[in-house]
Amino acid sequence: MCKILISPSILSGDFVNMKKSVSAISDWGGDLVHCDVMDGVYVSNLTFGMPMVSAIKKITSLPLDVHLMITRPEKYIDAFIEAGADYLTFHPDASESIECARDALKKIQSKGVKSGIVFNPNIKFKDYSELMYYCDIVLIMSVYAGYGGQKFIPESLDKVSEAKEFIKKNKLNIPIEIDGGITESNAKAAIDAGVTILVAGSAIYKSVDPRTTIKKLKLEIE
Ligand code: DX5
Ligand code: ZN
Repeated sequence: MCKILISPSILSGDFVNMKKSVSAISDWGGDLVHCDVMDGVYVSNLTFGMPMVSAIKKITSLPLDVHLMITRPEKYIDAFIEAGADYLTFHPDASESIECARDALKKIQSKGVKSGIVFNPNIKFKDYSELMYYCDIVLIMSVYAGYGGQKFIPESLDKVSEAKEFIKKNKLNIPIEIDGGITESNAKAAIDAGVTILVAGSAIYKSVDPRTTIKKLKLEIE
């Protein structure tokens, strides 16, 4: 089986002591730092932008997994790369057009950053599958983007299977990431469907023993 990576979402961290919340990720055995950027337009919630991402970059050596939930993401590609994103994913339905989304993915890749598209539960895989050829990662939302702490939508695993099939058929090498409502009780189903990178916010930050939670999410222990 592929190595499973965990990307804790700092949205569920302590905003008064973000340094502690970020540093804890490597101590707990996490692999990436998931940064949820929301603009109050593509999603109703507002979180943080480039200054926060560049501040986090300075205090961790883990890769930054930046998830843009913003309208016209193509306008902000340079800024988030400059801020230190190692993975930069966005919702293609927020782009002005599919061509703009494709150009944004190409630009991300040309700068040596891993590019990816994100599918909200209501977005059909086939509507944007042509962009997969310009992706280094694909992120399937298992809740509607916007807030941490929501309930996992089981049907999202069908989209994971669809993405897995597409990747196999086209001989691509793209890891599948899942985001939203991931817990110790649904991690196995996601991994069985083809996920190798799991985002988890509340399951990790609200855990009394985050190190054990991360091991369980990786299926290293029961
Ligand atoms: C939702 C965000 C998620 C969220 C995950 O819009 O993209 O990354 O913070 O949090 P949990 O794991 O609590 O659903
Ligand atoms: Zn996210």
